[in-house]
Amino acid sequence: MLTIRRAIFDDLDKIAAIEKECFTTPWSEASLGTELTLNALARYFVAEISGEIVGYGGMWVIADEAHITNIAVSSNYRRQGVARGILHKLLDTAKKERCKAATLEVRVGNTQARRLYEDSGFAPVGIRPKYYYDTNEDALIMWCVLE
Ligand SMILES: CC(C)(COP(=O)(O)OP(=O)(O)OC[C@H]1O[C@@H](n2cnc3c(N)ncnc32)[C@H](O)[C@@H]1OP(=O)(O)O)[C@@H](O)C(=O)NCCC(=O)NCCS
Repeated sequence: MLTIRRAIFDDLDKIAAIEKECFTTPWSEASLGTELTLNALARYFVAEISGEIVGYGGMWVIADEAHITNIAVSSNYRRQGVARGILHKLLDTAKKERCKAATLEVRVGNTQARRLYEDSGFAPVGIRPKYYYDTNEDALIMWCVLE
């Protein structure tokens, strides 16, 4: 069974391992640790299946906007609705905190993530050219109005 809960500092090892597995330019364990402890704007969640952490996601709540930072799911657990569950938890939390909108950047070529976000109400609103320094790929800025 899939459960989504707030992340705690003890989850850091597992979150950092998933981050490394899923991204070509992963956030360092130290940066993720700061997110879980010192960053008052940060809200992070982990997804568990049978007690094992299989994915995580986070956002920054800045004034009345939620900036989604990362969503990642370990490759053995993909296409089971884990990312959708994490994203919905983030958006529910943002609404409870009275955010009016959520936004994120995604690589233009990341079709699976783009579809995930589009399915959950995000629409493309702009491009940040050459945003990703490893490949010079553009970032698509996506936006979701929260009711
Ligand atoms: C993108 C990612 C988070 C999706 O995780 P996931 O748990 O497999 O996604 P879900 O099972 O919740 O899928 C939700 C929807 O996203 C879309 N989607 C997810 N994976 C897809 C794929 N490989 N191809 C096409 N669409 C896909 C589909 O619309 C899917 O709905 P459906 O299964 O009903 O068709 C995962 O592939 C991942 O961790 N990728 C690497 C990290 C990354 O790119 N993160 C996002 C950028 S911040």
